[in-house]
Amino acid sequence: MPKLLTVGKTLQTPFPADFLWGGATSANQIEGAWDQGGKGLSIQDVLRRGALYPRTERPTPDNLKLEGIDFYHRYAEDIALFAELGFKVLRISISWPRIFPRGDEESPNEEGLAFYDRVFDELEKYGIEPLVTLSHYEMPLYLTETYDGWVSRELIKFFDRFATVVFERYRDRVKYWLTFNEINGMLHLPFLAGINTPLEELTATQLYQAAHHQLVASARATKLLHELVPGAQMGCMIIAAPVYPLTPDPHDVLASMKLDHSNMLFGDVHVRGHYPGYGLRYFDEQGINLDITDQDREDLTHTVDFVSFSYYMSMCETAAADRQEHAAGNILSGVENPTLRATEWGWQIDPIGLRIVLNQYWDRWQKPLFIVENGLGAIDELVEVDGVPTVIDDYRITFLNDHLVQVGEALRDGVQLIGYTTWGPIDVVSGTTGQMSKRYGFIYVDRNDDGSGTLARYRKKSFGWYADVIRSNGATLKP
Ligand code: BG6
Repeated sequence: MPKLLTVGKTLQTPFPADFLWGGATSANQIEGAWDQGGKGLSIQDVLRRGALYPRTERPTPDNLKLEGIDFYHRYAEDIALFAELGFKVLRISISWPRIFPRGDEESPNEEGLAFYDRVFDELEKYGIEPLVTLSHYEMPLYLTETYDGWVSRELIKFFDRFATVVFERYRDRVKYWLTFNEINGMLHLPFLAGINTPLEELTATQLYQAAHHQLVASARATKLLHELVPGAQMGCMIIAAPVYPLTPDPHDVLASMKLDHSNMLFGDVHVRGHYPGYGLRYFDEQGINLDITDQDREDLTHTVDFVSFSYYMSMCETAAADRQEHAAGNILSGVENPTLRATEWGWQIDPIGLRIVLNQYWDRWQKPLFIVENGLGAIDELVEVDGVPTVIDDYRITFLNDHLVQVGEALRDGVQLIGYTTWGPIDVVSGTTGQMSKRYGFIYVDRNDDGSGTLARYRKKSFGWYADVIRSNGATLKP
């Protein structure tokens, strides 16, 4: 049992004193400036609003996904607001095409590197620890069009170069790194791994070969980091979505276990350093023939220091012949759980699932965990209180409070957790729909789905609430 810390005179909290509270973002959802600073085109720059597959049809100016919220120019203002929230950590990602515009160059784009220097300077000013994702559903578009993305083994070499450059450049500034955001997401949306082959033509072998290349690249980046920056820590990042059997029928329990395995595979390889038996059996039964070299096997043995994950919802599974997927979700979708309510986008709300997944991962891997995304996407209404624009987002406060209470329970269960970063502490462009109106932030950004708006930032009610949670190290949470 962890010792309960006493805050002030009366309040107690299960959160450790050095717990990293903060927020999480990604380059393509906040930076904007897609054509500035020598940046090349990213796969994210050609996505259509409301659709993640641009292959057959390039977007037109009026259906192009919105670019970010101009963090590229407003980072100082935004980081000052994060400091006001009391952030200990900020998760950002580095835009690969800002550093290597095409992806296959020998030397990097200095202007891109200098941008992140400025961001790290600003974070240092406030003592905010950066947590940096190398690839958040992003890569140079050129690598997609020329190599079919991660289907090609060549990508490992390009990623090695990218990782080496940023590790060497930021070696004294960044301690916590992540390789690929939600690496298991690529099985469901291959374009996010830069795969250009249309879904209907893509074979299971190509898809898992691409996943294998990312797993090898991730392990090689871990090895590189350990060699180049002693003391720095590398984590993997997976979509966590606990799978519950729809009924106690053992067939449903087995079906849930198999679905769970398809996600666990990625964590297992990252933590154990080799493919698990159930994965090899799956490849065999599905006729998936992977090209795995001896060097790949050696690379995979370089395992991560911690496991990070996003958590938004859980799902059910059944073996029934009339199985239907009605529950929408974060990249993954599943069988609806009749006991849960859902968000406006159909994602089922399950705070207890977070405690379950924390225990499950800790029991399975015995590696420190890091919750690097969690939050509620909702439609916010801007109102004026005492002449100041704000949002009365009690629904967001309730959602986050309830999830954090369960995090506290998991800490009491003995789970080792480094930190917690809410998704989109400032409103960002939605990853799955490209909308602005799906908001997660404590900070409202004045911008509409059609791109209109001043981009001004306003504090929501949840801003003060989260600042209190951080200041009290979780003691103000309401069970
Ligand atoms: C995760 C991604 O899938 O979920 C983020 O890592 C994304 O990039 C987040 O934004 C929430 O999804 P959405 O579609 O509500 O923005």
